[in-house]
Order: sequence, then structure tokens, then C-alpha cells
Amino acid sequence: MITRYTIGNPIETESVITDIPLDKGDIPFWTRKDDEKSLSISLAEDARVFGLGETIRGINKRGWVYDSNCTDDPVHSEDKHSLYAAQNFFIISSSEQTFGTYIDTPGKVRFDIGYTEMDRFAIRFEDFDADIYIIQAPGMVDIVKEFRKIIGKSYIPPKWAFGFGQSRWSYMTADEVREVADKYEEAGIPIDSIYLDIDYMERFKDFTINAEAFPNFEEFVSEMKNRDIHLVPIIDAGVKIEDGYDVYEEGVEKDYFCKKEDGERLVAAVWPGRVHFPDFLDENARKWFGEKYKILIDKGIDGFWNDMNEPAIFYTEDHLSEVFEKIDDYKGKNLDIHDFFDFKDLTGSISNNAEDYKRFYHNYHGKKIRHDKVHNIFGYNMTRAAGEAFDRLCPDRRILMFSRSSYIGMHRYGGVWCGDNMSWWSHLLLNIQQMPALNMCGFLYCGADIGGFGADTTEDLMMRWTEFGIFTPLFRNHSALGTRRQELYRFKNIPAFKKMIELRYALIPYLYSEFMKAAQENDMLFKPLSFEYPTDKDAFEVEDQLLVGESIMIAPIYKQNARGRYVYLPEDMKMLRFRAYNDYDEDNMTVGHHYIKTSLEEVLVFVRKGHVLPMAEPAVRAMKVDDTNLNYITFDTTPDTYRLYKDDGVSR
Ligand code: GLC
Repeated sequence: MITRYTIGNPIETESVITDIPLDKGDIPFWTRKDDEKSLSISLAEDARVFGLGETIRGINKRGWVYDSNCTDDPVHSEDKHSLYAAQNFFIISSSEQTFGTYIDTPGKVRFDIGYTEMDRFAIRFEDFDADIYIIQAPGMVDIVKEFRKIIGKSYIPPKWAFGFGQSRWSYMTADEVREVADKYEEAGIPIDSIYLDIDYMERFKDFTINAEAFPNFEEFVSEMKNRDIHLVPIIDAGVKIEDGYDVYEEGVEKDYFCKKEDGERLVAAVWPGRVHFPDFLDENARKWFGEKYKILIDKGIDGFWNDMNEPAIFYTEDHLSEVFEKIDDYKGKNLDIHDFFDFKDLTGSISNNAEDYKRFYHNYHGKKIRHDKVHNIFGYNMTRAAGEAFDRLCPDRRILMFSRSSYIGMHRYGGVWCGDNMSWWSHLLLNIQQMPALNMCGFLYCGADIGGFGADTTEDLMMRWTEFGIFTPLFRNHSALGTRRQELYRFKNIPAFKKMIELRYALIPYLYSEFMKAAQENDMLFKPLSFEYPTDKDAFEVEDQLLVGESIMIAPIYKQNARGRYVYLPEDMKMLRFRAYNDYDEDNMTVGHHYIKTSLEEVLVFVRKGHVLPMAEPAVRAMKVDDTNLNYITFDTTPDTYRLYKDDGVSR
């Protein structure tokens, strides 16, 4: 059962696509305080909170403050409050009550979950305008399904996007891309895609190609396609200001860029220097920008990633001139503690400055709305621009799309990757913990940069992260400029990496089936244990094991030098300790806590009772995996049937 309540005059986000009649009564469960612009609820001792999508910290969100405010911040440390996404759906579960809440507002919201007061959950709004949905159903999975029904079906990528992808900021030339493909093929490691980061463009201009580095781009795309490798270019939110650049000139002519109060176009800066931001909230601008993807689709491209769409702002022209003006006051001065910190604040506040997000406006449903009021739906609408265009341009086939920034509703148009993580062991754990929360909010096609984006990775971190990544739909190794190269063939134990990637490909029939069923039935692909075992108190506390689909549980190792780990089994299961898809130990294990030894090259999978894990012979490309000849692994001798999903992998 879902009921809708309204506070103030909410700005429509178009995240909910089902008409839920308005209930004019009091919002159940929550105490509303208009003077504090808050809703609050007391948290029982055993209450746990799940959801909020892509955020920091654990699966149980209790004990911290989470700001719903899409932010470009590459340091995802425990002390932060927001990442790139705003996904305001969560479930509170205790022995007294279990229900879901969706706070639908494009503006800023603060979720204080037992931080200020350990036994209180307070939601504080910057503007007290929101649609509130209360979702009640018997269990947590039912609540998620009810919620997902009203926000519409999740995006489905082409099947090749379940293969392995290699990325780097950046492969600078076509030859460098060829070399990556060659090296993977020489090593016999399966691969389906190679990503093109910002340097494929001509001076970071969207929908252009650097013709010197990537001559005859179209031929190059088809050359790679003949090798069954998909090239996936990045698209950034800012459009470079440059005379003669058609996207810029058209945007100006048609008046599709965001403007300031005085009607002047906002001048911000990102990779190309000065840019304008297309007004993705304006339907016409959205349509116009979406059509631009055709330029690359016509060259044979069938996948994209949308970036910097919070939007990230290096600086705005206006703020920068204010800073330059003030800097003079500090010149030649003896900077004491106060002056020095003021000076630091001044120069350190240039990027992603909160005031800059108040300097520009959108034309949203015919109304002029200041950006900060709709900040959280900007990236969503960039990806929607692409998704709506793909519906028109390629109605018969799927295009890969995932975005950095997101809001609920965007899950209909694309997936997400979790942005600029670091090559830290703690971020491998974070990746594990983010997956179920993303699924709750409708984002099924997701994953993080395997091996870590920022900082230098190590071979063992790469191995352990790959061992987890083989289960995430988006399975991409990506790293930042200036960090250690981390293509798998660069490490010592190439055969072990090859075996892991092959294991992924052997699992594709299962992962694809489970993904498609989750998409069609509004289910989650990744579940915390307590979602399936709601009365098992031990399962409540498990923050580092996940159920993946209906048949298996995984227990990834995310600590350096660990050669084993404690695993909690909520029921009897069959343990598989894989060294390769065709080389594994099996052991029937009983419910309870176990310490399981696992070498660096081994990955643990547990098959649930009465369930089936189908496995294929791996192939070097996802589309070549033969799903007619499967090996079925079961726990007991009389398993249930398994619903295997098959299709051509491309059509809608
Ligand atoms: C951003 C993206 C990252 C990309 C980089 C350069 O930091 O999050 O994935 O590599 O920009 O485009």
C-alpha cells in the first residue's frame, strides 16, 4: 500500500510515474514540525535503516548525516555527507514496524539518522516542499517492489555490457586503444568494451573527435566492432564556448543554455575551460541535446557514459573575478591565523561553490526556477535527454548508458557508476555496501571503478576487487590520469586474472537472467541478508555479504593480506571456492558462523538450498557465451526449477 502526502508546493521531479491520490491526512509514522521544516521519528533500539542509494558508510545507514545534494567530490571518506547521487528512498525496520518512505523533492534534504540524537531520525528540508510517499507491505523486498512499481521499470543495457570493460583516463590515441585490445587478446582475457575518456574529443568539446589522435574515427569504430569490442565514449555536461563550434552556436541561437538572473548566459568552467550548461530541464533543450548523441551513433557507437553532471563546476567566471579582486587584499600582508585561513577559504572555495549553484536558472515547465532548487535533477535530466533520444533514434535496439549524477527516475534511462573512488580497500567494501541500496532505488545497472579510480592500486587489491566485480552488472576497470596503470595484463599473475574474468563470463547466463528478472519484476539483484532472512538476528548485522539473485550468496574478501574470512550462513548452503570456473572445491555447510580460508586467487560463492546456479563455458565475448549448454550446480538433489532468461541481447 502506498499513500502520498504533500508538504508545501513541491516542484515536480517526474520520478514517480503512477498517479497516487493525495492523502490530506497527517503523514503516518512521522512527526511534522513546520517551524523546523522537519519530519522526525524515534528509532527503536533495534531499528535499522536501509536505502538512500549511492551514499557513503554501511548497509544500515543508522548513525550518520546524509545530505541529498549531488556533489562532485572525489574523496569518498567516512566524514563526507553526500556523493554524486540523490536517491531519497529508504526503509526503517524494527520489531515494531517496517515501512518505506520516499521524499520526492529536487532540492536539498538532510537525513540525520541517529546522529544528533542516537534514537531519532530527523529529515530536515531546505525548502519545506515535497511529496512524501509512505510504502507499507509485509516484508522489505515487498516494500521495495511496491515502490519500484510507481517509479517505473529500470533501464536495461545491451547484453554485451555484461562483459568486462577496460577504461583509463585516457587512452590518448586509437593506437593506444588497439594496444589495449591486443594485450587482452594476447593474454586470452575476455573483454567486451574499451572506454574513451575526455581526450578522444577535440579539446574536450562534446560530440567532436580529436582527428589527429583518432583519425578516421568511423573506420576505427568498425575495426573494433569487427573484433567485437565496443568503444564507449564519455559525454560531459558543459558545452565549450567557442566560436565555430556548432553545438555551442546552436545552443546560443536556440537559447538552450542556462542563464543568470539578468538573462546573461552563465559562464562556468570545466575541462574545456569556459562552458555553458544546457538547460536539461527545458524539454526543448533536452530534445536538442539528446539528438546530438546521433552524431556518435552514426559513427557506430552504441554506448555512452555521462559525466560531470551534478553539474561539476571548476569555477564560474563571476565568482572567479570576485576572488581575484579579494586576493589583492592579501598581497604582501603578514597572514596570521585568521587571515591565512580566510585566504585559504577564499581560494579553496572556487570549485563547486554552493553560491554558484544559486547564480543560474532553468526554464522548467514554463517557469523560471533557480538552479539550487532543482539541483538534484540536473544530471538525471541530462541522462534523460540521451534516453529519450535513444527511444527516437534507436527504437529497436538498446544503447549502453550510465551516468555519474542521478536522482530516482533516472533509473529508467540509464545506470550509474559510483564515481571517483580510490584504490583503497575501504572503497572495495563501500562498493559492496552501495549495491543493494542502489538496487532499492531502481538502479540495477551499476558498478564502481574496479581497482579504484584515484591513487595507486596494488595487484592484490585489483584481484580482490575483480573477485567482487565479477558479480556487478557494470564490470569496468577504470583509473585516473597519473595513477598506476591497472589494465589486468600489467600485473604479475595474469593467469589468475584471466581465470577470474572467465568465471564472470561463465556466470553471464545467471547474472543476465537475474538482472532481467529483477528489471521486469521490480526486484533487487543485490540484497542484504536481512531482506531474505527477516527474522534471523545474526543476519541483521551482516554488512559484508550479499545475496546476488535468487540462488547465491557472496562473501567477498576486502582486507589486504587476508587469506580467509568469517562468513555467516543464514541457512545450510553449498560452498563453492572457485579458482576458475571449472576448478573449485565444494562443501555442504551448515547454518552459522564459519571461518573459511580463501587464497588470493579464490572467490567464495554459496548456493542456496533448493536453488540452482547455472554456469556456462566462458567465451571471450559476452554475446558468445553459449547458454544452451549449461552446468547446473545445486545444493540438494531435488532443486526447484530455474527460470533462465534468454533473448537476442540487443532488441528492446
Ligand atoms: C571525472 C570522472 C572520471 C573521468 C574523469 C575525466 O573525474 O568521474 O571517471 O575519468 O572525470 O573525464
